[in-house]
Amino acid sequence: MGLWYLFRMTHKPVLLSAIKPTGDLHIGNYFGAMRQQVELTKEGKYKPFIFVADYHALNSVQNAEEMRRRTRELVTAYLAAGLNPEEVVLFRQSDVPAHTELCWIFDSITTMPYLMRAHAFKDAEARSKEISVGTFNYPMLMAADILLYDAAVVPVGQDQKQHVEFARDTAEKFNRIFNQDVFKLPDAYIMPEVAVVPGTDGQKMSKSYGNVIPLFGSSEELKRRVMSIVTDSSGSIPQNVYAIHTLVRSDAELKPIYEEHKGSYKELKELLYADLERYLGPMRAKYEELATSPDIVDEVLEAGKQEARTVSEAKMDQVRAAIGVR
Ligand code: ADP
Ligand code: TRP
Repeated sequence: MGLWYLFRMTHKPVLLSAIKPTGDLHIGNYFGAMRQQVELTKEGKYKPFIFVADYHALNSVQNAEEMRRRTRELVTAYLAAGLNPEEVVLFRQSDVPAHTELCWIFDSITTMPYLMRAHAFKDAEARSKEISVGTFNYPMLMAADILLYDAAVVPVGQDQKQHVEFARDTAEKFNRIFNQDVFKLPDAYIMPEVAVVPGTDGQKMSKSYGNVIPLFGSSEELKRRVMSIVTDSSGSIPQNVYAIHTLVRSDAELKPIYEEHKGSYKELKELLYADLERYLGPMRAKYEELATSPDIVDEVLEAGKQEARTVSEAKMDQVRAAIGVR
């Protein structure tokens, strides 16, 4: 019993997730992904790895200054959101060469018809035929990300579930071809309660739609964006306001408030603003404080790089031996 407990403590299942440094963070990113990722790392059940997927972002961010700035912003945001770098391996994908090396190996055992089944590829193709090869084999880089660390649990939004299934298939295929159990099969953990966060116009909040509420905007900007939420005049409850409000308060708390202020859209928005400010204000303050000490981000990334390299290189030794290179 004692020994089993010790084994479980030192062999916690790996939790791994990532976000691309592609745009200014908005509250949809936070409530839809980051908050759950940070909470899961705090449960103590997992060995967590969280990284900034800069090579995945290269398909769209093709400017060095922007890539550097957004990467730093994302690391700072995770720290401000409560991620503890003592407990989480927080790193930058491009700091760990094994990701792209393993991606090539997976490319070599994967067929084009298989990758053409990816929803993300089909969507990109529907918009334009000029798709980069990197966009096409995006799932193989993501499979490498996941399989290098023996990830058991991969918390993602619904849109990424298929990519985790591709990682699983690729692990099985590799193990079968090379007749060794090199890779562990991961499970997608679809983050609970990740309803799509609506934007100020009621569509999905997205940087592409210009309907975002920025996560680290000033208090004035937050107020301005909240006051600009589109309200439909058909019902007494402004749906878009209410939907965003549920991110920070329960239905049970909100019902009487919306009943009391029936039809007073302006007041309801002011209440929403006050609640968001109460929730986001301390995080913004932490973000601003961290932004004044850039060394902290460098130190966190350096420590993350070392640990991620150690773990991934050990896996690459197994991979190289299995395929007969070096
Ligand atoms: P955007 O739609 O603004 O381009 P990304 O695709 O870069 O955002 O998303 C980064 C992360 O934030 C993903 O895990 C995604 O699932 C989550 N996310 C983005 N927008 C929303 C939203 N409106 N509601 C819930 N989650 C979201
Ligand atoms: N593709 C993910 C997204 O667009 C980001 C990502 C890259 C990721 N590698 C990952 C997520 C590995 C989980 C695990 O949101």
